Amino acid sequence: MVIYAGKDYQDVSRKAANIMSAQIIMKPDAVLGLATGSTPVGMYAQLAEWYRKGDLDFSKVTTVNLDEYKGLSGDNDQSYRYFMNRNLFDHVNIDKARTFVPDGLEEDSEKACAQYNEVIRETGGVDMQLLGIGGNGHIGFNEPGSAFEKETHCVDLTESTIRANARFFDSMDEVPKQAYTMGIKNIMAAKKILLIATGAGKAEALYNSLYGPITPNVPASILQLHPDLTVVADEEALGIIR
Ligand code: F6R
Repeated sequence: MVIYAGKDYQDVSRKAANIMSAQIIMKPDAVLGLATGSTPVGMYAQLAEWYRKGDLDFSKVTTVNLDEYKGLSGDNDQSYRYFMNRNLFDHVNIDKARTFVPDGLEEDSEKACAQYNEVIRETGGVDMQLLGIGGNGHIGFNEPGSAFEKETHCVDLTESTIRANARFFDSMDEVPKQAYTMGIKNIMAAKKILLIATGAGKAEALYNSLYGPITPNVPASILQLHPDLTVVADEEALGIIR
């Protein structure tokens, strides 16, 4: 495990973008595992800027995202597909046919998850998987208690997540109650993992994940067993690790 300390969010975003772009430069047809959430937004903006300057070429890159809400189409501005288009794919020369996100509109969960595992297998495997981390140590939608050996599966969102999301929708019926997520097994199969974390709200989860016991109660703690883990975090997230 290697830990890089960034000064602040911008510094973390730039350092993470440097690591991701090195992967693309060294392997132009790299398969990147991508994440949504607020943490990677700055990193995606930096990658898009380097693309505009002519320093990066995404034309042969393939991407697979960690997760998607069940029931949302890619046009819905709350979907993770929409997020990826808006934050990265619309700004670089990636072939969108090679950008994969679980199919939120597939109602048959088993089918959706099996299809996504197949998509991942057909890419030949993820070269670099980007991860954010939840304040409770979750990765993807693998919440505390998730089995380490799962591949892509359907999760029930917690009451608090459903309530928190309600403000983005016109009615409670439209709020997604489930999501499709890569499982820990898919995540651990990536050749390299890049975990990014910023802000004091992540300090406890980050410390427990990197130095605490490896337990399903802290899903990210399994990353201690990954042979090629890079962590980029700001001073607040590193907390007592520094
Ligand atoms: C997103 C994802 C989530 C986030 C995590 C942190 O695709 O899988 O696990 O990485 O919830 O989210 P932020 O970055 O918003 O703090």
